[in-house]
Amino acid sequence: MDIKNQHNKDTGSNIERSDERIAETQEVFTPMEVCEEMVHMIDIERRKNPESKFLDNSAGSGNFILALKNELLKYHPEQHVLDNMLYAVELMEDNHKELCERVGVPIGHPHYVCDDALTYDYGFGESVGLEEHGLGKMKKPKNHTPPAPNTDPSEASLDQFF
Ligand SMILES: C[S@@+](CC[C@H](N)C(=O)[O-])C[C@H]1O[C@@H](n2cnc3c(N)ncnc32)[C@H](O)[C@@H]1O
Repeated sequence: MDIKNQHNKDTGSNIERSDERIAETQEVFTPMEVCEEMVHMIDIERRKNPESKFLDNSAGSGNFILALKNELLKYHPEQHVLDNMLYAVELMEDNHKELCERVGVPIGHPHYVCDDALTYDYGFGESVGLEEHGLGKMKKPKNHTPPAPNTDPSEASLDQFF
């Protein structure tokens, strides 16, 4: 196993990654216990509110989403949590697949998206009206080159997420 991937094996991922890949995508995941600690730092009223929405837009293989799911299950039914409270975007297809499997949603679930967080329209299955600006529904480039910092207006639609 490549040296950088050893860390990810300890944080719940079973995917083989080269050091070169990790250097390009920054795939170094947060340990589950740290995710759990951070989730407990979220205001309790926000955790208990069934209208709350949580987004990890660089979700990896789902450690934060999984920690959030486990916490939210204390207060809400599982289907409500999965379909209305959690949202994820992840660039790499194998990470996205692993995330969906771990969290327990189908690969095609509209709230758990395999896309580039810097160009995704954050519609999660709903139109947000950005198509006329050439944004939204954009496909991930086959050979991914990290894009320049985002300055597009789709950022405005992130306001609803914690
Ligand atoms: C540092 S890891 C964090 C993963 C997770 N949030 C965690 O804390 O365990 C960063 C993740 O972002 C993904 N990533 C990198 N560039 C991205 C992009 N432009 N859009 C979406 N995801 C991206 C990588 O594939 C990687 O899984």
